[in-house]
Amino acid sequence: MTDDPADPTLDPASETERRNFYGRIHGKTLRPRQKQLLADLLPRLSPGAVSVFDNPDRMPVDLTALFPGRPVWLEVGFGGGEHMVHLAQANPDVAIVGCEPFLNAVAMALAKIEDGGLIDRFRIHPWDARELFEVMPAPVFARAYLLYPDPWPKSRHHRRRFVTPEHLVPLHGAMQPGAVLHVATDIPDYVRQTLDEVPRAGFTRLAGDIHTPWDGWHSTRYEKKALREGRRPHYMRFRRD
Ligand SMILES: C[S@@+](CC[C@H](N)C(=O)[O-])C[C@H]1O[C@@H](n2cnc3c(N)ncnc32)[C@H](O)[C@@H]1O
Repeated sequence: MTDDPADPTLDPASETERRNFYGRIHGKTLRPRQKQLLADLLPRLSPGAVSVFDNPDRMPVDLTALFPGRPVWLEVGFGGGEHMVHLAQANPDVAIVGCEPFLNAVAMALAKIEDGGLIDRFRIHPWDARELFEVMPAPVFARAYLLYPDPWPKSRHHRRRFVTPEHLVPLHGAMQPGAVLHVATDIPDYVRQTLDEVPRAGFTRLAGDIHTPWDGWHSTRYEKKALREGRRPHYMRFRRD
């Protein structure tokens, strides 16, 4: 629920408009700069009208037109944004689209993007990634990251995981053929479901030791927490067929 129900930046969609999204939308109270970033910078960085609440007619959103000549990479569920900001700094030729429905995290990431002078190379979709994939007229993403997705540990909740056809099929449609999906998780049963479901959605697993990160790996906030708590990271890469 919102911290300040009168603030429109905190309540963009009604419960009835939220389609099968089970994660947190709001957390603790936002600081003034965070509120300002959500009110001023987020509308500039939202890739057109991209969500059910501001694109009720589901008009197509052409991301390639936003970044002519640049490969576009995707991060789903970017949390505080450390990883995608690192990607942008380490790869000055790429543009990055981040999807994250938890507004406190969006505000944290916006601060990093602004402080890093990276505004021109980012678009932020502050909502369920599927809503963006479904309005993209053509595959755009040349690379994708799904890092420590919500584990949903109870077996009756496994169908809520991102690695289900409801999410993977639209993701496949948004990625260019040959693009690589990078998945990291600390949950062994999430590894099992990833190895089952991602190939079924039209991806081929790339060789690599499951406990060795890929080149260029930058640890995330959630991974650091997992390591502190004694859980072991797993890294998997899949080529979009
Ligand atoms: C466990 S956190 C990990 C955050 C970050 N990747 C890290 O490693 O620190 C998972 C994040 O995925 C986001 N998320 C869950 N479902 C999503 C969806 N359908 N689209 C985009 N983000 C989603 C959640 O809001 C949450 O911030």
